[in-house]
Amino acid sequence: MPTRQPIVSVLGHVDHGKTTLLDQIRGTAVVKKEAGAITQHIGATEVPIEHIYAVCKQMIGSKKFDMPGLLFIDTPGHQSFTSLRARGGSLADLAVLVIDINEGIMPQTLESISILKRFKTPFIIAVNKVDLIEDWTVNKDEPFALNVRKQSDKAAASFDDKFYKIIGELYEHGYTADRYDRIEDFTKSIAIVPISAKNGIGLPDLLLMLIGLAQRFLEDTLEKEEGPAKGVILEVKEERGLGQTVDVIIYAGTLKKGDTVILGTKGKPLVTKVKAILKPKPLDEIRDPKDRFDSVKEVSAAIGVKLMCQSLEGVVSGGPLRAAGANPDEARDEVSNETKVNIELKDDGIYIKADALGSLEALAYECNKAGIPIRKYDTGLISRKDLIDASAYGESVHRVIMGFNVGLLPDAKDAQPSYPNLKVFTSDVVYRLIEEYTEWMEEEKR
Ligand code: GTP
Ligand code: MG
Repeated sequence: MPTRQPIVSVLGHVDHGKTTLLDQIRGTAVVKKEAGAITQHIGATEVPIEHIYAVCKQMIGSKKFDMPGLLFIDTPGHQSFTSLRARGGSLADLAVLVIDINEGIMPQTLESISILKRFKTPFIIAVNKVDLIEDWTVNKDEPFALNVRKQSDKAAASFDDKFYKIIGELYEHGYTADRYDRIEDFTKSIAIVPISAKNGIGLPDLLLMLIGLAQRFLEDTLEKEEGPAKGVILEVKEERGLGQTVDVIIYAGTLKKGDTVILGTKGKPLVTKVKAILKPKPLDEIRDPKDRFDSVKEVSAAIGVKLMCQSLEGVVSGGPLRAAGANPDEARDEVSNETKVNIELKDDGIYIKADALGSLEALAYECNKAGIPIRKYDTGLISRKDLIDASAYGESVHRVIMGFNVGLLPDAKDAQPSYPNLKVFTSDVVYRLIEEYTEWMEEEKR
């Protein structure tokens, strides 16, 4: 059975090194041109298995794996990992959670673990920035397993200090984790790979652990699915010279130019036609910045592409895409079901908003756990209409809007002083929203 590449998502607290890690994975690939060139997708980066063999040579010798490579998703900055859903879970088959060794566990770290556990996404932790440990000997691109043996007693002691503090904190939160080379049963412990995203230390170990995880936990999910395409919408984007386009990750099947596709919107699914499938041109072939894409006839999973369609009216980030195939009604039902959010509403409660369907559900889930009732939900920025709506109903502690990954539109910001009885909380960390609301509510009730 041919397999597709596992889709890998990189997540973690702000500034802990997610982007640097992805850049390093791409960068080493550009330098080490020898085998398996990295392919830049729309919204993703493909690391072929030949490249992984080359990077990991010191660790694996001539060992081979039955997998075409890894597809890393470059989640758009303003979007959270939670918004990328597929098949009722996460779009990602695997994840890397990045933690800065000098900062340790932060709110977003715990939030990420809790989401990964809920979606049952296998993941590893990359403890990053080991190069900043005092007296650390930096050897570029060296496997951590080798690099660690070259450290002075002082550097080793300082590393152990910080590293075991993180393991201890994880344990306090109910998670068993250890250094990846000290784990016997990977079903019981979370594997931690120490790395320096900046210098490539530990990158071989990290890539190898991901391949290992995929082989252990994903055999069935990675069977290549034939048939009409299934995908997830990353974002709708205005592209110079092209007009409105939509970036999607196709995770199953094949998409052809001219296919009828069904896309998730806030209302009824949108049925439209694919006018063009665009892939980024290799960097050295771009002569004119307006001409950055190649148009192709068809693509197969897993891949990230940009689409031009007859219409993109109302299409939502994080929503599903289905090619109609021979069964358009079934495809439409699927899109309809996947666009539905599963949120229980009460007659009296708060109003929640988020950037996409998945993040809306994540926020609703945490509200539920904290016993905060929800009266209404929607995706998108907070508008003046939302303020009017939320200030008009219910108990005073429910005259509240919570915005997860969304702020206020300019007119809403201007109008806010006219609604003194309304409280607006916005953050890109769900925990913080819940915490701040709870504190405020207790104060109000006093
Ligand atoms: P957000 O996208 O803002 O959440 O941040 P991020 O997680 O993508 O972090 P980013 O990669 O932008 O890194 C944040 C800062 O840490 C940058 O200044 C990086 O240069 C630095 N940094 C990242 N990794 C390393 C590392 O391994 N060593 C050192 N010394 N600095 C690092
Ligand atoms: Mg970043």
